[in-house]
Amino acid sequence: MSDKKIIAVLGATGAQGGGLVRAILADKSGPFKPRALTRDVNSEKARALAAAGAEVVAADVDDPATLRRAFEGAHGAYCVTFFWDHLSPEKELAEAGAMAEAAKHAAVAHVIWSTLDDTRRHVPLKDDRMPTLMGKYKVPHFDAKGEADALFTRAGVPTTFLLTSFYWDNLIYFGSGPKRGPDGKLALVMPMGDKKLPGIAAEDIGRCAYGIFKRGREFIGKTVGIAGEHLSGAEMAAGLTRALGEKVTYQDVPPEVYRGFGFPGADDLGNMFQFKRDFNEYFRGARSVDFSRSLNPELQSFDQWLSANASKIPIEAPAS
Ligand SMILES: NC(=O)c1ccc[n+]([C@@H]2O[C@H](COP(=O)([O-])OP(=O)(O)OC[C@H]3O[C@@H](n4cnc5c(N)ncnc54)[C@H](OP(=O)(O)O)[C@@H]3O)[C@@H](O)[C@H]2O)c1
Repeated sequence: MSDKKIIAVLGATGAQGGGLVRAILADKSGPFKPRALTRDVNSEKARALAAAGAEVVAADVDDPATLRRAFEGAHGAYCVTFFWDHLSPEKELAEAGAMAEAAKHAAVAHVIWSTLDDTRRHVPLKDDRMPTLMGKYKVPHFDAKGEADALFTRAGVPTTFLLTSFYWDNLIYFGSGPKRGPDGKLALVMPMGDKKLPGIAAEDIGRCAYGIFKRGREFIGKTVGIAGEHLSGAEMAAGLTRALGEKVTYQDVPPEVYRGFGFPGADDLGNMFQFKRDFNEYFRGARSVDFSRSLNPELQSFDQWLSANASKIPIEAPAS
């Protein structure tokens, strides 16, 4: 019988959790084995994880009893919420609370909580440089995660608070890729001014989390931040130009214009970019690339990520 310790992984069929499951499985002589949690054990992605050697277990973060069962017997748990599925910070807080309770109930020895900065510590609600959203947030999908840190601490769960970064994969899956302007030219549109944006290959988040679990108790009770590279919009556009073989320019837009783009969550993302721009020194300081590489020696640069993924970025054909 294997004496490997179980790491229960939420979001195992998704970006962050999937990277962690694959990192654990790739280290055949490592101390851990993954328990992949999913709402549907029969989905194609769940079956692929089982075929690769993961234990696959049904759990729904909105059903606390299933979470408690799924955490039973686990040494570690990777906890992440899914803001963009529902756009509700209150739901995110409730889900994080249920995760903390389940981890406490199962006496999990090490939780990694995938969190983000509570921007209200830097931009109080009365600061009108950016609008207050949903009554009590500046950047709802950041603030609720940061606020949820206390739920893990209060439950007495041994937790590492992991600050993640902008996925470069957003260029493929989140509509953040270069767009053709009225002049037919490709532009990368972001309200970052000339400031640098910490970014990361989504797959590397799970690999860094694996590095944290391997380091034992070292980061329990600590907040640690990760990024693959910090790049300005112009540097990202130059990388895209090289990888796509077509000129991409960086187009800085004011955050208020970005907030008005009209897609669901545009106001949240406009505030998010403004926060990253206006508090750039703090934000970058919390996400060290060298530290991330010490956790995950395979950490990808933007160019490396592009060489494997640029062909998946949806690019509108030029008008003929
Ligand atoms: N995009 C970015 O740049 C970025 C950067 C930093 C942080 N984030 C944060 O990352 C989080 C999302 O993580 P991700 O990108 O890894 O997610 P993802 O790729 O969208 O995958 C989410 C997975 O979670 C599972 N899931 C969804 N609802 C669930 C529920 N109620 N119970 C159990 N599992 C559920 C789904 O699996 P099943 O269908 O198999 O159940 C899905 O495959 C968001 O909160 C976002 O704010 C994003």
